[in-house]
Amino acid sequence: MSQSSASQQAAAPGSAAVFLPSKDFAAKARIPSLAAYRKLYQESIDDPEAFWAGEATELLWRKPWSKVLDWQEPFAKWFDGGKLNVCENCVDRHALGPRHNKAAIIWEGEPGEQRVITYGQLHRDVCRFANVLESNGIKAGDRVLIYMPMVPEAVVAMLGCARIGAVHSVVFGGFSSEAIYDRLEDSGAIAIITADGGWRRGKVVALKPAVDEALLKYRKIQRVIVLRRCGNEVAINPDIDVWWHDQIATASAKHTPKAFDSEHPLFILYTSGSTGKPKGILHTSGGYLTGTYATCKYIFDLRDEDVFWCTADVGWITGHSYVVYGPLANGATQILYEGAPNHPDFGRFWKMIEAYGVSIFYTAPTAIRAFIKAGDAFPAAHDLSSLRLLGSVGEPINPEAWTWYHHHIGGGNCPIVDTWWQTETGAILISPLPGATPCIPGTASLPFFGIDAAILDESGEECGPNQDGRLVIRKPWPAMTRCIYNDPERFKKTYWSDFPGRYTTGDGARRDEHGNFWIIGRLDDVLNVSGHRLGTAEIESALVSHPAVAEAAAVGRPDEMKGQAVAVFVTLKANFSESESLRQELRNHVGHMIGALAKPDDIHFAPALPKTRSGKIMRRILKELVCTGEVTGNITTLEDYTVVATLQRNIAR
Ligand code: PRX
Repeated sequence: MSQSSASQQAAAPGSAAVFLPSKDFAAKARIPSLAAYRKLYQESIDDPEAFWAGEATELLWRKPWSKVLDWQEPFAKWFDGGKLNVCENCVDRHALGPRHNKAAIIWEGEPGEQRVITYGQLHRDVCRFANVLESNGIKAGDRVLIYMPMVPEAVVAMLGCARIGAVHSVVFGGFSSEAIYDRLEDSGAIAIITADGGWRRGKVVALKPAVDEALLKYRKIQRVIVLRRCGNEVAINPDIDVWWHDQIATASAKHTPKAFDSEHPLFILYTSGSTGKPKGILHTSGGYLTGTYATCKYIFDLRDEDVFWCTADVGWITGHSYVVYGPLANGATQILYEGAPNHPDFGRFWKMIEAYGVSIFYTAPTAIRAFIKAGDAFPAAHDLSSLRLLGSVGEPINPEAWTWYHHHIGGGNCPIVDTWWQTETGAILISPLPGATPCIPGTASLPFFGIDAAILDESGEECGPNQDGRLVIRKPWPAMTRCIYNDPERFKKTYWSDFPGRYTTGDGARRDEHGNFWIIGRLDDVLNVSGHRLGTAEIESALVSHPAVAEAAAVGRPDEMKGQAVAVFVTLKANFSESESLRQELRNHVGHMIGALAKPDDIHFAPALPKTRSGKIMRRILKELVCTGEVTGNITTLEDYTVVATLQRNIAR
């Protein structure tokens, strides 16, 4: 592996290292210099509609739009009057042209099977599946829940829904039956696409049983389509369950896609907020596709000859935007991998990069930190010289992880795009452009074209350089969420009520004197655990649903690997007593109510929780306690401040 660091410059103000794009990279990039970025950025901010319309024209529209943007704050309509089919844009456009025999998906199962699916094949698969959906009575506008492992059929399922205008709601395979039930109930889904199971760390993780359990309570499902992936035994209910392979066997590989309105709903993806109930983030068609297409094109500088690999699961927004819609809209070749990064060992990703000649690799800081811990020998054993660009997403990437990634994976030669965005934003909003932006470890750097990002203080004034404040977006953009499904009031309150006309991201940030955005983290009651969003209220409501728990408070504490770990304080009801087995039971209970990813790392039993005189739990104090072991702030507003001393003693034990 090359160790050259020719692109590294002298220390920047504030002594952070600066990595300039290499001349070679810049020469071939779409945006080849910072000056070119600044010029185009200014134009795009002066007239965002012109910029976005230019990008949208590169897609296939069946009917042109009459208006680029109809903005009735906070409700946006992009490309109104226009009609398109998202699936046709991602598949047919390539399959019926020169990319017909180009690999769309190179898939590897965890046990090692390999499949290469060309655009031509993907087209046939998607057409068959669209016919299957229709023959099972699923229509445009119906909601379909997808609960699948990372197999090509998950992508086919999403695209099949998009093709017929059904609205998919993908639920990450790590969520529990209760979480499935909540999402079914909220979305009113009428069909489910699932699998018997998926492979993870050498074991079959069953999926169908969680669906079955959710359906004991939810009665509106008319059809469950089950993919046989692992061959584990599953119960089949002949009234509603059908096997994927049986259905496909007789389905035609021809299907004519209908055109849908630009604002036709494409998907709902649930994410955590500051209340116990996850929010159904709604994304629509034309704008979302324009946003994911354009960001993929410029930020990953994606080319026909690239092999792109975004390691996210399709259950998260990153999987939607940069596994399915963005890369496929660009006609890219991409890698899809089913299993764990450390199976059979921590060399799996590097082995795959070498085997498939991956040129662009996009992953999360939490994974990078796990690789660092596993040791340099794993990447060193593989030829990673095919890589030309690296990406990071999900949480701030600490400079140590950035530097390791740059050196050990990128061989010192690859720019790193630290991409900031959210489920709600649909596409990347702040990121370096790899041929243009000087990369400084730890900053997501500059806003994408058309994105008017700013940092405001509490009074709504723009902060000066290096002053911490709240990150907002001041102009609408095409991939923005249109609403919280069925809850416009919550949508307005959550995102649009802090500062009139500004989208509130919920993140704290500062801008340095060069205009780079440094993301500090969430300001609301949302935790970021291994790059996954969890609401403290969600964890608390799971805990209090256990018969032993009277009250619960969840806070985040820094964790070297996960970024944040979940610490909870629990007070028990009178006839229950503290024990190690109860602690375990509570962890499992949260796992049952939400999913294993939400299981608390620390459970502190507490005789009482610190509260204000009006009865509000003071999480600030709990947070300080778990982070530092003590409380320094003013506690005189507490109803009973002896509580703090007790908690402090308990934590120290
Ligand atoms: O706090 C920010 C953090 O992840 C949050 C969004 O989470 P989610 O909707 O699950 O989407 C994650 C994948 C896009 C943000 O509010 N975040 C995301 N990317 C970054 C980040 N924090 C710092 N740097 C990033 N690059």
